[in-house]
Amino acid sequence: MCGIFGYIGVKSAAPLLVEGLRRMEYRGYDSTGIAVLNGEIQVHKKVGKVNDLKKILPKVIKGNCGISHTRWATHGGVTDENAHPHLNETSSLAIVHNGIIDNVRLLRKKLESKGIELVSETDSEVLAHMISIGLDSGQEPIEAVRQTLRKVVGTWGLCVMFKEHDMIICAANGSPLILGQGDGESFVASDPHALTPHTQSVSFLEDGDIAIIRRGGFKISRLEGGSSSTGITILEEEWGEADLGDYPHYMIKEIHEQPEALRRCISGRLDYANGNGKLGGLRLDSATLRATPHVRLIGCGTALNACKVGRLAIEKLARVPAMAHVASEFRYNDPVVDQLGLHFAVSQSGETADTLSAIKEIKLKGGLVFGIINVVGSTIARLCGRGVYIHSGPEQAVASTKAFTNMVASLLIFALRLGRTRSFSRAKGRKIIDEFKKMPDRLEKYLEDPGPIMEAVDAVKNAKSVLFLGRGLSSPVASEGALKLMEVAYIPCLSYPAGEMKHGPIALLEEGSPVVVIAPDDEMKEKTVASIHECRARGARIILIHAEGDEIASEGDISIAVPRCDPLLTPLLTVIPTQLIAYHAGLALGCDVDRPRNLAKSVTVE
Ligand code: AGP
Repeated sequence: MCGIFGYIGVKSAAPLLVEGLRRMEYRGYDSTGIAVLNGEIQVHKKVGKVNDLKKILPKVIKGNCGISHTRWATHGGVTDENAHPHLNETSSLAIVHNGIIDNVRLLRKKLESKGIELVSETDSEVLAHMISIGLDSGQEPIEAVRQTLRKVVGTWGLCVMFKEHDMIICAANGSPLILGQGDGESFVASDPHALTPHTQSVSFLEDGDIAIIRRGGFKISRLEGGSSSTGITILEEEWGEADLGDYPHYMIKEIHEQPEALRRCISGRLDYANGNGKLGGLRLDSATLRATPHVRLIGCGTALNACKVGRLAIEKLARVPAMAHVASEFRYNDPVVDQLGLHFAVSQSGETADTLSAIKEIKLKGGLVFGIINVVGSTIARLCGRGVYIHSGPEQAVASTKAFTNMVASLLIFALRLGRTRSFSRAKGRKIIDEFKKMPDRLEKYLEDPGPIMEAVDAVKNAKSVLFLGRGLSSPVASEGALKLMEVAYIPCLSYPAGEMKHGPIALLEEGSPVVVIAPDDEMKEKTVASIHECRARGARIILIHAEGDEIASEGDISIAVPRCDPLLTPLLTVIPTQLIAYHAGLALGCDVDRPRNLAKSVTVE
């Protein structure tokens, strides 16, 4: 989603800005722009990719102070005018803004009543004009930004650059900004990935912080006045730039990285001697685990599907009530938060605004919340303070694949840990651990020979819609398969617990309708077969994902076998054919599989 990169130093700013934007491309965006200060503020912005912007940039842009932006449209269409940076009327200042201004209608009206003409449809542009009014009334730049933001309701990661002042002012509230200090130069970015080529010494602005950055360093204070407690952090882990290697796309590369990623995730976390899971980052003792009345798992999209697997595993192993919550709904349903309950915020990026807002709600109500996160040092990881890094490594494709596997694996290990504080025996724990350790090899084995994926692609690629069915732990896998195919190939997909199919979705079935059924060899299998028969009787074409060597294979028109494993662990394997179907269907339909239309990698607005 939207990204910000800014620079003030001695080097030429423009190439650094373009490179900063390029490093944030994986987040998804629809337009880009830069503003560079060299006596005047020069703005270049354009719909399209960073490469499209590069084409319209003059060969040489002088100036060693600048701000830049990748925009993912919220207020106003995808147009050059709506791209950031935005200027005030006299072009004496430029702003870039991430986040959403909730009271924009009122603010626009006020500006218009003063005769100010807004040239874009964005909410962000109002900030440029409001700060400008403050400056015109004699306020210092920091004061003008402060006074402006006090009138704003909403979220911001904001950078302001001034024609007359050698500085950039930054402010954050509900949208991340990170300041970096180099030698005689300072940086600001919304994503640590853009900063790490320049410096490891950074400050993550807290909500309500405002900062002046100059060449020699930055000064952070609070919006309401007074100093900020925000300190310097040394970035611990940098993934570097994931390159494609021999793969044509990140999505397929990341699908194939799952065995190795899973190995990393479970390494050191399975304690065979005690038949237990070890998740040190939770810093939870057995007494607290024993006392918990329930577990709530919160996430969006793929993370939500992982939560649904996790909740079933927790109830199965630990006999503790567990729920999976849609993060965007959580806060607004005014949830009852039990202070003994355990809450987990699950997120690949660690930046998802909906998940962040749920965490804030839990904290406000005195609840305990832990992160299950991929990106080290991300906003959610820092806000939770305690949690589990899933160690998937960089996930560049917008469609999440290897993060799902490791979210599920982390939640399964937690289920084991929680179960062992209750009635779950050491012997049973050891049995699961034995099986768990074999899973990376099984994933590898499957990926070496994934079966008739292309036949499945032929069956789905021109379908009006595709139905995904599964029961028990396979029901969220069906949801994840449907989400992936929809995201990457733009095919309408529905997912249902198989038993629910006859209560409505069956009406969609006609001759040849593709139905993807996830039916591993577990206690639900026979029930799922009954649903297959009901679909078949209506002419549906069954794409069956099943355990290797299972006689159920004959129930599918197209049957895809995955290696056998403990029923509890099947989601780690059965999801992979669905990822492959999505990837190859996307390719067959000419879609941009790594950057599907309208989607963003980090969804930083609610
Ligand atoms: C997954 O393929 C999607 N791109 C999307 O649903 C994603 O899982 C969701 O936006 C949550 O992201 P997060 O894990 O970074 O919080």
